Amino acid sequence: MLLYILYTVVAGLAVLPLVLYARNPYFLKDLSYAITAIQIGFRMGTFRKQSSFYSILDRFLDQVVRQPHKKFIVFGESSYTYGQADKESNKVARALLAHVPLKQGDTVALFLGNEPHYVWLWLALAKLGCTASLLNCNIRSKSLLHCFSCCEAKVLVAGAELQEAVEEVLPALKQQGVRVFILNDDCRVEGIESISGEIQQASDQPLSPQLRANIHIKSHALYIYTSGTTGLPKAAVINHERLWMASFLQLVVGVRSDDIIYVYLPLYHSAGFLMGLCGAIERGITVVLRGKFSASNFWNDCRKYNVTVVQYIGEIMRYLCNAPKRENDRDHKVRMALGNGIRADTWADFLQRFGDICICECYGATEGNVGFVNYIGKIGAIGKENFLHKMGYKYALIRYDTEKEEPVKDSRGFCIEVPRGETGLLVARIGERTPFSGYARNSQLTEKKKLRDVFVKGDLYFNSGDLLKIDSEGFIFFQDRIGDTFRWKGENVATTEVADHLLMVDCIEEANVYGVKVPGHEGRIGMAALKLKESLDFDSKATYRHVKNPLPSYARPRFIRIQDALVVTGTFKQLKVKLAEEGFNPAVITDPLFYLEDNKGYVPMTQEIFSSIAEGRIRL
Ligand SMILES: *[C@@H]1O[C@H](CO)[C@@H](O)[C@H](O)[C@H]1NC(C)=O
Repeated sequence: MLLYILYTVVAGLAVLPLVLYARNPYFLKDLSYAITAIQIGFRMGTFRKQSSFYSILDRFLDQVVRQPHKKFIVFGESSYTYGQADKESNKVARALLAHVPLKQGDTVALFLGNEPHYVWLWLALAKLGCTASLLNCNIRSKSLLHCFSCCEAKVLVAGAELQEAVEEVLPALKQQGVRVFILNDDCRVEGIESISGEIQQASDQPLSPQLRANIHIKSHALYIYTSGTTGLPKAAVINHERLWMASFLQLVVGVRSDDIIYVYLPLYHSAGFLMGLCGAIERGITVVLRGKFSASNFWNDCRKYNVTVVQYIGEIMRYLCNAPKRENDRDHKVRMALGNGIRADTWADFLQRFGDICICECYGATEGNVGFVNYIGKIGAIGKENFLHKMGYKYALIRYDTEKEEPVKDSRGFCIEVPRGETGLLVARIGERTPFSGYARNSQLTEKKKLRDVFVKGDLYFNSGDLLKIDSEGFIFFQDRIGDTFRWKGENVATTEVADHLLMVDCIEEANVYGVKVPGHEGRIGMAALKLKESLDFDSKATYRHVKNPLPSYARPRFIRIQDALVVTGTFKQLKVKLAEEGFNPAVITDPLFYLEDNKGYVPMTQEIFSSIAEGRIRL
């Protein structure tokens, strides 16, 4: 009898995984994700409690002790070990200190493209307890000054190739008493100090940890610029807690200590810097750094450097799939791709063409307090819900009115959670473990991202601005972005910023900027509806001039629609949804349309241009 009971129990235990598997085929992956998440939660808890704070820099220094001779950064034909990177950053820190009395808490703005110096500079600043402000190296003039002023930096360090852009804003910087350094041996412009020579000659001895003794988990580590819902870019505050959370992503998706990661996304964005570089430091792996993405060199680089993990944004995956097929398409060691924004059709194409690569699609905003990972590899999903999620933090999809551009409220004035399978706006509760640090020196915009009294009186949520859908198995799908931004080529474009530039053109009275979908492309491309001043014609040349100089190419309106009057809501908010749906087909729209031709300017839109775009003969 006893034996029989024992037998039943053992058999039952053996069958249990099968039963669980039948009920949930993702059980094991769910469980393994949950275990990692608990480990990370545990480590974060220790970081929060420790009296002397352990930062990602300390992690780097531990890697230096543990594996000084392991390659850390590979760039072109050069490579630097962990030990060398440590010394290089000591030199940079000492050279900076010799010029400016930097102390912990000060901010230094970095304005350069991807290169090893980017990494040395940031490590140097971390060693001095300073905050690094990561300026987008594509921005110029007014936007550059705006971003610089956001973070109250006293010092700007620029790459040699950006001298012209710096000179353009130099008078204003001088007025603010900013010290400007350039990574150059010699610079003859008054007010710009070259610093490369000093860096080379500086001592590489370690800097005293005393210099950063006051840094704690809530100290600002970085400012990363995002184009949010309105106006010019905003400096999202990345404190050390947020930095750690993002650095753990590689651990979550299963990057191993022998992996080699390819980082070509800009280091001034969170994907390249936090997920790529900092994640690599947490794992102690080798980073193959590249200045810019190049479709023709992508796989060659992967082969040359034995890359095993690549980062991506959706556009990149499509470029790779669109490139001419080669015989050696599957000849590489890449086993994992980590990123976001890949479309389902591209995903399937990619796997079929380049082989069995685990694609880990992730979701999260730079400044956000909520993130998801599609750790199952389900095509098309940006994440999967896990039972831990719901215990750890509270988020919800709420019903949203895209015409009125606001959440739908019930009779008591609270938001309504959408049923499974329906699209809703993602909001996440702001709490002690899910903080929202907001934007530097901009409490007004920080406030705008917060929603109050969402489900009960007095609660507080972060408004992600993204419309998502969750299916019955818990897979999360991205649907759309709301409001005043759209994404194109992996960059957020703030419609009001673009409109501000258009309004500087003499002939333009009102401008409404929005994004339109283009067949075969992720995201939306810029389009503007314009109302012209009385009795003036559309001045295509002046308009081109005004968008070409200050705006990066991804933000320039590709299509222009001239209207007699712009439609506004009862509260004089511009309507974008309907215009965006109407698109840019001259056969449908009777208003005059213009198209921005590369290196030429605005030309009248024709049916032929439209067909070429629709059929993919013109690449946007
Ligand atoms: C890549 O791996 C191969 C074989 O494992 C090795 O011979 C080669 O030296 C490696 N290349 C680099 C750049 O490390």
